[in-house]
Amino acid sequence: DWTPDAFVETSVAELKQKIGSDKVILGLSGGVDSSVAAMLLHRAIGSQLHCIFVNNGLLRKNEFHDVLEQYKGMGLNVKGVDASARFLDALKGEADPEKKRKIIGRVFIEVFDDEAHQVENAKWLAQGTIYPDRIESVSASGGPSATIKSHHNVGGLPDFMKLKVVEPLHLLFKDEVRRVGRSIGMPEAILGRHPFPGPGLGIRILGDITAEKVSILQEVDAIFIEGLKKWGLYDKVWQAGAMLLPVQSVGVMGDERTYEKCVALRAVESTDGMTADWVNLPYEFLQKTSNEIINRVKGVNRVVYDISSKPPATIEWE
Ligand code: XMP
Repeated sequence: DWTPDAFVETSVAELKQKIGSDKVILGLSGGVDSSVAAMLLHRAIGSQLHCIFVNNGLLRKNEFHDVLEQYKGMGLNVKGVDASARFLDALKGEADPEKKRKIIGRVFIEVFDDEAHQVENAKWLAQGTIYPDRIESVSASGGPSATIKSHHNVGGLPDFMKLKVVEPLHLLFKDEVRRVGRSIGMPEAILGRHPFPGPGLGIRILGDITAEKVSILQEVDAIFIEGLKKWGLYDKVWQAGAMLLPVQSVGVMGDERTYEKCVALRAVESTDGMTADWVNLPYEFLQKTSNEIINRVKGVNRVVYDISSKPPATIEWE
């Protein structure tokens, strides 16, 4: 019978055996899979594991700082790399969703490769790949591994991809990864997180991306997600977020007419992201959240709620 405790014990022993005294590099995404993979490796080889957590400038509000602190609290040997400016610069003026994804993937690889070179004599690249990732080309976990897979055939291989690959979770399903995480003492704050796409807010800002749009969307998203938590709804929802639409509409504020941005909120129920239903959130919650967003986030004067299921709509708007 499969149990998380037994899995931890055998895989830690196997990892020790396989890796010996080598150094291992791992890209953390803030998501469950890469975090659990890191915890397992950390238990097996301690500070021989070098984790890299890249800020692409498209993370949720305060995410880079908060998640980095959580990782350090878990004892991981982790380096936070703030490459926001590099990503935003590369994305300047690009409005096409697939091109934005490609740019984000490419810059991620460049940044990660630079950082990997800082770890001298590394022999292994660890990835949080789980079993369903083999079937799907785009991982709902949104980890660096997902980005790497869809872009690794562009140009020559970066050096870190020439490393030997170790994938401690490659036979597990998502729920098993969570159970393993719980068994090795991963904080619930990380275990219970909604999936978040690798390209982050970059595919939730429809059209071209600017620093100002990122910061507007971060504020809106934070109000929505905090609200879901306060109302006890966060754990009932599979994934939630906000989209910044390339639409301005007329509003009134006091005696003035405004002409400002519109955001869409989206919350879905799903088991694997392949199909999804929009969640029937309480009207009172939607009402309070909408008021809070419009009152607090400068530049937004209209909020809509997305009531489309997948298929035919996708979860993300881009
Ligand atoms: P869609 O929008 O296709 O999303 O219904 C299904 C799941 O996949 C996530 N998603 C991505 N994850 N890179 C990722 O790592 C991507 O480019 C990407 N696009 C979508 C989405 O958040 C949802 O969980």
